[in-house]
This record gives sequence, structure tokens and C-alpha cells, in this order.
Amino acid sequence: MGNDMPRVAEMFDSISARYDLLNHLLSLGVDRCWRRRMARCAGRSRPQRILDVATGTGDSAIALKKSGATRIVGVDISAQMLKQAKAKPSAAGIEFIQANGEQLPFADGCFDVVTIAFGIRNFERRQQGLREMRRTLRPGGMLIVLELSMPANRIARGVYKLYFLKIVPLLGKLISRSSYAYRYLPYSVDEFPPRKAFASEITEAGFEKVNATALSGGMATIYEARKK
Ligand SMILES: C[S@@+](CC[C@H](N)C(=O)[O-])C[C@H]1O[C@@H](n2cnc3c(N)ncnc32)[C@H](O)[C@@H]1O
Repeated sequence: MGNDMPRVAEMFDSISARYDLLNHLLSLGVDRCWRRRMARCAGRSRPQRILDVATGTGDSAIALKKSGATRIVGVDISAQMLKQAKAKPSAAGIEFIQANGEQLPFADGCFDVVTIAFGIRNFERRQQGLREMRRTLRPGGMLIVLELSMPANRIARGVYKLYFLKIVPLLGKLISRSSYAYRYLPYSVDEFPPRKAFASEITEAGFEKVNATALSGGMATIYEARKK
């Protein structure tokens, strides 16, 4: 699937209008709890400036408002996803910028926390993305990655795979009319490294104290790490 993959931005542009609906439907609403959990982690260090990379339609950045930060910036590569974000009244006060997370348009060290929810999986150069996030963090700043993952339990994993491989592509095609995007989703989840391996990638990018917490039986994971 790698070679015929249309550019990520175009793919997200094409599903942007139905993204929120599908997200909540396919995750049975659990995605909201996971973003709230991410916001609580972000708020622990009482950050003033937060960057939310791959912010999409803005739900991750909106959840971060609870952290008490005075400046929240959301960046995404897809113009259409950002258009949906900007139209949300709940996104008032958040700055949205179109940019590639692998080349962030910010000076070194200007954020206290950098978050990325369900986005790193789509990066073409994941290590480059992590290094950019590190660069924009102040020393001691926190990186928080929320990403889908495989449940540890064998039976749960089987059900999860079946759901992603059969039901998600079908519902995705029916609702978004993009069969490609929702065939790509299970593929990208399956291809993403397991918890330990991804934690090592974070360390390799120059972070320390990497901590991975499984959510909902391991269907998603929150990675927290500190910039050295
Ligand atoms: C599954 S959505 C997640 C959106 C949002 N964070 C959420 O919680 O719903 C993934 C987003 O990552 C964005 N994306 C993918 N690759 C990117 C990159 N290299 N730089 C910036 N955004 C990227 C896509 O455009 C898409 O909006």
C-alpha cells in the first residue's frame, strides 16, 4: 500500500467534512476520553504555551484548553482539516497554522508542552517529526503522544484487528465515501511499532524519562517524555 499512497494531506482533505462523525462513531466515543486524559497529562506541569501537532479538526487542541495554558497553537498539514477546526466555536482563542510537523515553523524552545494525538502514525519521517517537536520544546519541556495501539490480551487483539480490518473500512467507505482513507487506517495502526519500540524511538530523538501508559486495555497509549 506504501507506493500508491496518495499524499497524506490530500487524504485528510478528502475526509475532513466527515472526520469528526466517523471518529466518534468508530471509537464509540472513547476518543473523547482519551483526549481528555492527554489534556490532564499536559496540565500537570502547568504549561503556559502548548503546541498541538497534527491537530486536524482541532479536537485535541480544544481538549487542551482545560490545561490552563495561555497560548495553544495547533498545526496540521491539511488545509481542509484546519478549516473544520477554525469553524468550531469551542476553538476560539486557539491559533491554527498549516505546517508540516516534520518542519515546524517555530523557533527553538518556544513551547512548554508539545502534544500529538493520533498523528505521528501518519508521518512519513517519524524520527524527523519527533526531533522537530523536541527542538520547539524548552529544556525540561514535555512531549505527549497519544496513539492507537494493539491490546496486550490476545483475544482483545483479535477482536480489535477484526474490527479495524472489516468494520472500520466498511463504515468509513459508506460515510466518508473514501474507501482509501479507511483502508489506510487499519494498515497504519498495524504498521506502527509496538509500545517498547516506539518508546525507544522517542529516546533516540533526544528525550528522557519516557513513560508509556496503556488506555482502555491497550487500544490506545499515551507516551510522556521530557526534553533533556
Ligand atoms: C487522525 S488525525 C488526528 C487529528 C487530531 N489530533 C485528533 O485528535 O482528532 C491525523 C492528522 O494528522 C495530520 N498529519 C499527518 N501528517 C502530518 C504532518 N507531517 N504534519 C502535520 N500534520 C500531519 C493529518 O492531516 C490529520 O489531520
